[in-house]
Amino acid sequence: MSAVTERRQTNEARERHALRRVQSAADWASYHAIRRSAIFAALLPGQVYDEHDPDEFKPGNLPHILALDGDVVGAVRIDLIDATQAGLRLIGIRNDLQRRGHGAVLLHLAEGVARALGRTEVVINAHPTSLTFYLANGYVEGDWRDAGPVPAGLIRVGKRLPRP
Ligand SMILES: CC(C)(COP(=O)(O)OP(=O)(O)OC[C@H]1O[C@@H](n2cnc3c(N)ncnc32)[C@H](O)[C@@H]1OP(=O)(O)O)[C@@H](O)C(=O)NCCC(=O)NCCS
Repeated sequence: MSAVTERRQTNEARERHALRRVQSAADWASYHAIRRSAIFAALLPGQVYDEHDPDEFKPGNLPHILALDGDVVGAVRIDLIDATQAGLRLIGIRNDLQRRGHGAVLLHLAEGVARALGRTEVVINAHPTSLTFYLANGYVEGDWRDAGPVPAGLIRVGKRLPRP
């Protein structure tokens, strides 16, 4: 496939996706369901998922869902850490739809939201099983700053956002 064809197909795929703020009760239900099954049940079996965690409601912490043709397929919280940094928290794609490119689109769109809000750097605390995914999407390991220390068992990665 030529680079032009590949780019056109990537753009078409992205046009079917939309990343939007969680608003309705149905949005919240989808957001929590994806995080429960894709992250907590699959990767953190000892940890209880709390829908009412205060971090979900802090000003500057922005829960988002990824829709594909109107169906919710992914979840991410975009935390505005300070004037330059955004953190992407608990990224999850629906279990039955993983490894079809939706995660890469979610990252791309979330980085766009961070950039539109004036942030120039994104940090993520990655579960080791997803490290390859982040490295494939331009993230690098290193001594990145964040709001808090690296949680046990996770790996911090970051990315400087290109200028628009
Ligand atoms: C990690 C996750 C968000 C990636 O989204 P996705 O839609 O599955 O990923 P994409 O299809 O865009 O990219 C997949 C590519 O990333 C890389 N990759 C490596 N390890 C991977 C993994 N464990 N899961 C997904 N992708 C992985 C591969 O290159 C893969 O390409 P391949 O399928 O051709 O081998 C998604 O799989 C997920 O929700 N996983 C469970 C929860 C999780 O790990 N969240 C991140 C916690 S920090």
